[in-house]
Amino acid sequence: MPSPVGYPFGSAFTDHMVMANWREGSGWGAPKLLPHAAIPMSPAMVGLHYGQVIFEGLKAFRRTDGRLAVFRPEDHARRFRASARRMMMPEIPDEVFRDALDELVRQDRDFVPAESSASLYLRPLMFASEPDLAVRPAREYQFLLIAFVTDGLFGSEPRPLKVWVNEDHPRAAVGGTGNVKCAGNYAGALRAQSLAQENGCDQVVWLDPAELRWVEELGATNLFFVRKSGQSHELVTPPLSGSLLPGVTRDSLTVLARDMGLNVLEDRVSVGEWQDDCLSGRITEVFASGTAAGVRAVGQVRSAGASWQIGDGSVGPVTAALSEALQGIQYGRRPDSHRWLHLV
Ligand code: COI
Repeated sequence: MPSPVGYPFGSAFTDHMVMANWREGSGWGAPKLLPHAAIPMSPAMVGLHYGQVIFEGLKAFRRTDGRLAVFRPEDHARRFRASARRMMMPEIPDEVFRDALDELVRQDRDFVPAESSASLYLRPLMFASEPDLAVRPAREYQFLLIAFVTDGLFGSEPRPLKVWVNEDHPRAAVGGTGNVKCAGNYAGALRAQSLAQENGCDQVVWLDPAELRWVEELGATNLFFVRKSGQSHELVTPPLSGSLLPGVTRDSLTVLARDMGLNVLEDRVSVGEWQDDCLSGRITEVFASGTAAGVRAVGQVRSAGASWQIGDGSVGPVTAALSEALQGIQYGRRPDSHRWLHLV
């Protein structure tokens, strides 16, 4: 079992994994539960050369009543199938996906942490495994499910992020693959992420690929703005333009915000508006959301020519309330009124 003090994201793996293979003509073979171990692969495997690789990320929680629950597995199964279709890969049936999750979580149940800031991150992955370098969809694929213990992509300390607006490199292309979870999207993002760090920031803000003007995402997360609207607040998130990822956490937060009586809208926010509205006090909070990241406040923004603070730079009340509402459901402290938890 890993140490209970801090789990750097993506390193504290459990003991097992699930594997299934697909072959043209015969379809999916039965998934197998195996020890988590290195896998044999050909150096000519298509996934390595041409990037036919997709993945998902979802979490299992240990609830306060001791039961284990996976958050919104059907939605992740659906998005995995959408990624597969876009990348010309075979879709894995939802019940096979869910049974694999159940089997791994049951087998490695002792790894699911009891701390209320940590969880078991489940990483389904599919890649083209055929050793044949013709440039066409492969005829063999491998599905893997592995898991690791995490206290979040940015750790458990709730320090607001400092973010860098990248005005040079869009993350995605118009009509490209920005709205699916293919591995190449993440490799292509590394250069801009390193520029953000060189500029003293934690994460990179992605702008739309057509005009490099509208804010779309943040690092590997979606983004939300809290704006004053009359006497109350509204929650704004960039619309699903085709170049940003339809986050399951993004969707959950819009539902929870409506439950809290907030007006929620999908609206484009330009970098200029972001700065002006922070200076005028119209934008009071900004936060990132994702499965790995959870809900994380953004405190400061920098670009090549400007720098501004959001509110007083600390975690705002709407961000804190939404984070608590989401975690309350995930850890079983609040009723699961939207039936998002799948008990294992
Ligand atoms: C997630 O939030 O689960 C993701 O897949 C992003 C990840 C690459 C850190």
